[in-house]
Amino acid sequence: MKAIVLTGFGDPAKFLELTTLPDPAPPGPGEVVIRVTARSVHPGNLAMIRGRFNIPLPADGFLVPGADGVGVVEAVGEGVDPASGVKPGERVIFNPSPGAWAERLKTRVELVTPVPDGLSDAVAAQLLPNAVIAFLLLRAAQRAVPDAGRETPILLTAAGSAVASFLTVAARRRGLKVIGAVRSTRGAEALSARFPDVAVVSTAEPDWIDQIRRAASGQPLQVIMDPVGGAMASDLVRLLGDGGALLFYGGLAAEPVALGSIQLAHHEIMFKGVSSARWLQTTSAEQRRDDVAEAIEIGRAAPEPFEVAASYDLARFAEAIVHMERADRHGAVLLTSNA
Ligand SMILES: NC(=O)c1ccc[n+]([C@@H]2O[C@H](COP(=O)([O-])OP(=O)(O)OC[C@H]3O[C@@H](n4cnc5c(N)ncnc54)[C@H](OP(=O)(O)O)[C@@H]3O)[C@@H](O)[C@H]2O)c1
Repeated sequence: MKAIVLTGFGDPAKFLELTTLPDPAPPGPGEVVIRVTARSVHPGNLAMIRGRFNIPLPADGFLVPGADGVGVVEAVGEGVDPASGVKPGERVIFNPSPGAWAERLKTRVELVTPVPDGLSDAVAAQLLPNAVIAFLLLRAAQRAVPDAGRETPILLTAAGSAVASFLTVAARRRGLKVIGAVRSTRGAEALSARFPDVAVVSTAEPDWIDQIRRAASGQPLQVIMDPVGGAMASDLVRLLGDGGALLFYGGLAAEPVALGSIQLAHHEIMFKGVSSARWLQTTSAEQRRDDVAEAIEIGRAAPEPFEVAASYDLARFAEAIVHMERADRHGAVLLTSNA
């Protein structure tokens, strides 16, 4: 099978290559072999490739990136109940299942969910990368400040992203209010067009902090969900009230976070990192099933988070990555395969 392999951490142009690997061995008990048809290239993939997750390469010196996507079941092992819907020929989504940037992968049946007809591959491929982190953030917010989003809106930064769009939809389903912050006037216009009833602020405006305060009716914020980090974090902290929480889930800014500790201490501000990489370990099987079911419901009902910028055949991964990092990109970049 065709596969993209990573031979070292760093520049994707240098360390990723298209190669041929053996197909997965037949599935053992509880295992499933999937022919992968589409996966999204998301910022987490690129952060891992560039070595920002600080994980080692496996002992054999390479790995196949990607851990999520959509495909068709080719074979199931002993003990996989056909009543689960996971059977040969069925379309499924999978997460987390390492090796998704290959034509086939083998994973455990409990990480695989059938996809209903009517949910396109383009939407299905994006569902879990966005949904898992969104649900983890919403639960982390509720643990930190139980009524977060009820009286005072939750602030989402990089609010035009796919994750924040999913968060916006998921928050509204729970009756929670959000404010979106984006880094440009153009981004603010696009986000307002996507979610006309959400307050949107551009951090390019000199008075953006006051604008957020006004959008929150003058109340200090209780929770901010931020994938940016960097210098802006110290401004975000100024928006939080006593006991407020800043939930970090990415590092889009090039520079590190710089914060004055006295302000944090005085207001008992809480920081927390949230990662979808820990969903499997920290979330019960029942909750994970509910998360996947809600993700599918949102995928069917709400098109906003699932715009597609372009699809590339797996072999054209290098062009896909360049497109992914283009400033004028709107929507997800997909890698497709059909062998
Ligand atoms: N912790 C986890 O497990 C986890 C899981 C999924 C995603 N994430 C993180 O979530 C973030 C969003 O992912 P995504 O897939 O939703 O991304 P996406 O759809 O590709 O969108 C990225 C967004 O970030 C904005 N952006 C980029 N650099 C920025 C900066 N320096 N300052 C402010 N905004 C910036 C872009 O704004 P413009 O439109 O202005 O370019 C764009 O709206 C990423 O950091 C990703 O790593 C984390």
